[in-house]
Amino acid sequence: DLKVVVIGGGSSYTPELIEGFINRYDELKITELHLVDIESGKDKLKTIYNLSKRMIEKANVGIKLFQTLDRQEALKDADFVLTQIRVGGLDARVLDERIPLSHGIIGQETNGAGGMFKALRTIPVVLDIVEDIKKYAKKDAWLINFTNPAGMVTEAVNRYGDFDRAVGLCNVPVNMKNQFAEIFKVEPDTIELDIVGVNHHFFVTDIFLEGKSSIDELLDMYVSGELQNTPTMKNIESLQWSKSLIKSLEAIPNPYLNYYFMTKEQLQSERDQYEENNVRAEEVKKIEKELFEEYADPDLDVKPKALEERGGAYYSDAACSLVDSIVNNRRDIQYVNTLNKGTVTDFPYESVIEGAAIITNDGPKPLNYGKIPYKLNGTLQTIKTFERMVCEAAVTGDKDLAIAALTLNPLVDSDTVANSVFKEMFEAHKDYLPQF
Ligand code: NAD
Ligand code: G6P
Ligand code: MN
Repeated sequence: DLKVVVIGGGSSYTPELIEGFINRYDELKITELHLVDIESGKDKLKTIYNLSKRMIEKANVGIKLFQTLDRQEALKDADFVLTQIRVGGLDARVLDERIPLSHGIIGQETNGAGGMFKALRTIPVVLDIVEDIKKYAKKDAWLINFTNPAGMVTEAVNRYGDFDRAVGLCNVPVNMKNQFAEIFKVEPDTIELDIVGVNHHFFVTDIFLEGKSSIDELLDMYVSGELQNTPTMKNIESLQWSKSLIKSLEAIPNPYLNYYFMTKEQLQSERDQYEENNVRAEEVKKIEKELFEEYADPDLDVKPKALEERGGAYYSDAACSLVDSIVNNRRDIQYVNTLNKGTVTDFPYESVIEGAAIITNDGPKPLNYGKIPYKLNGTLQTIKTFERMVCEAAVTGDKDLAIAALTLNPLVDSDTVANSVFKEMFEAHKDYLPQF
């Protein structure tokens, strides 16, 4: 028997998960799949449940599907718990994106002030979920967390949750790998990457084609102008890095580094969106409305194409592959958020990193990376320190620590700004900040 519980089951991404589990059913026989949500998500949950049911029936697989608002009941004897929640919903995200912009700094849901407040809202809830997992799920249950900011949430669970079976997941490494596969015209599964850093703040420092290091070829393509752009995502603008940057760093920045290395351009375009009441959260509200109208169509029994408009498209492939490799001890390489355990020697032993790991029945075993190239070390240490301070503040409710973290974040241009942004965001989000 294999019982999987999805917390935040009403997410518009759930049909991808369902599709992923259907496609893998021959080798990964999920017997029970429970979709859990909360009162305010009841209608979404119902629509998702009905669509999922049609998909499962069409595929004729033996997955028994359930929907519930009773998390503890659902967690009983679970093998895998997948978390994909948005505490405060898209309305809170609108504030995460708009308030910082009104103070002249970037508003982003996983980086800077927005990311910090998403972490402060989310970490207490996920730690509660962890308590329920310890109480109700199987002793060897795994928590697979997509909830953003995924790196910080996973770090907080490891440091403060007294639980060491949590893995954080993001679709960016997989998307980059797929885009590199297109560039080199090879199958994605013939490629492996060396990546170093943390969630949404990492670099690709090598790419192996059938095991052969090929980073120099890739860098040459950028530097020669043969490739116009480094990989990007639906939710992130495609901006062109300079040749000097790519050539000198000898690494490919992940698309989220736009915010840090092209701050001015990114800020300008976000300001325009702000003026047009069309920051990403506002855009996502529209996309989501259309998606749910489509999902409600009783004739629909597959994942609709429109889901590709979301930045998280294809994340389910990562999620389902991870579950599959743990269950079947595949020992393949995947890119996950997991405890460093000394594999990146410049990061704390007990911190969470995003990196390549071998996925076994005993969970991810991160590959030895060694030292961080010195040109990348500064920015990575800054962000890791920010993350650690935010996690500590999320658990202790230490406002001063949270404000100091914000001042250290490169997207915040002054301590005075950090203080005023914090104050306004704190007021706006205080219903979701029980720890303070
Ligand atoms: P969403 O707004 O649709 O939220 C998903 C569901 O969570 C909703 O139905 C909501 O009612 C429910 N929810 C909120 N609080 C809950 C709680 N305490 N318990 C149970 N359910 C709760 O959000 P979404 O766009 O589907 O994204 C969900 C999360 O996944 C976000 O945190 C988002 O940032 C993250 N995400 C991460 C990745 C990744 O790469 N790791 C990719 C996509 C989305
Ligand atoms: C990417 C990131 C996710 C993030 C998503 C946002 O996929 O990896 O962590 O949640 O983009 O997409 P959205 O459509 O919500 O802006
Ligand atoms: Mn992500």
